[in-house]
Amino acid sequence: MKPYYSDDSVTLHHGDALDVLRAMASGSVNCVVTSPPYYGLRDYGEPGQYGLEETPAAYVERMRDVFSEVRRVLADDGTLWLNIGDSYASTGGTSGVGPDAVVAQTRRQDTGRTRLASTLPPKNLLGIPWRVAFALQDDGWILRNRIVWHKTNAMPESVTDRLSSRSEELFLFAKAQRYWFDLDAIREPAVTADRPATLKTRGGSEWSAKAVKPGSTQQRTPGADGLGHHALGRNPGDVWLIPTAPFSGAHFAVMSPGLARRCIAAGGRPGGIVLDPFAGSCTTGMVANQLGRRFVGIDLSAKYLDLALRTRLAQGVLMFGDAA
Ligand SMILES: C[S@@+](CC[C@H](N)C(=O)[O-])C[C@H]1O[C@@H](n2cnc3c(N)ncnc32)[C@H](O)[C@@H]1O
Repeated sequence: MKPYYSDDSVTLHHGDALDVLRAMASGSVNCVVTSPPYYGLRDYGEPGQYGLEETPAAYVERMRDVFSEVRRVLADDGTLWLNIGDSYASTGGTSGVGPDAVVAQTRRQDTGRTRLASTLPPKNLLGIPWRVAFALQDDGWILRNRIVWHKTNAMPESVTDRLSSRSEELFLFAKAQRYWFDLDAIREPAVTADRPATLKTRGGSEWSAKAVKPGSTQQRTPGADGLGHHALGRNPGDVWLIPTAPFSGAHFAVMSPGLARRCIAAGGRPGGIVLDPFAGSCTTGMVANQLGRRFVGIDLSAKYLDLALRTRLAQGVLMFGDAA
């Protein structure tokens, strides 16, 4: 399989995710971080795109097929971090869909109302993330976490008969019961009512977990704060407060670099390979390179891959090797 682009830190494949994955060697990547096209939300203007399946069930089956191949391509100790948003059932019809169009009602928000057919009455939240998660579990994946991504700068919605949506699901799946996971790389400062969010190093200088590079060799003593907290900080938990970060070059919702950073820091082996089968503007690739991981990206749109090479990957490649 001839890549669309390849250098020491990045390999990009242009094509259908399932087709490209089928041509990849088994166990050839260490970690997968991705956000697939959400159901019924956008038209990327490419024949063969995912997300516009006739029914939620067809979409779920498509995702099951893709992530079954992802599982084969992933090393036995690898993890999959899957960010996926939900959609609402609407009255049907695809009149709002056209090249580069965003399905009406969803332009102002990431979690939207689908205009595609559904067996559920209009206004129903389809529960797509969990339908996909259950399908992947049935397929053999081990679901380790449902992480709530709380978008701290979520756009307001004009709805008046329900609550506005400010969160999305991020699922952590493992291929096997034992897997690579670097919790220390993503710990955050311990916080108690009577204590600020700072900790002491063995030498006594104060530090903040946010300032520590993943994989740093700086020595710290567990419990060194004298309060029984882990000296590297606390487990960040399964609710992540991270803002969205619009990217002016892309006409679709890009992954938040902060979200990708946590996934890759914890799930990607230093020097290993991170795969995103729906790479888009390659946010995951940029972060992977910044953290010293190699990147393999797949996308159906050459336009987005070109954009990534001009922007996000141009920055990322420069920083490759800077971070531990
Ligand atoms: C939600 S976007 C990913 C955004 C990306 N995480 C970023 O930060 O830019 C989904 C991507 O899936 C791509 N896509 C849609 N159908 C596809 C398919 N059949 N195979 C591969 N990529 C596809 C779209 O072109 C789009 O770039």
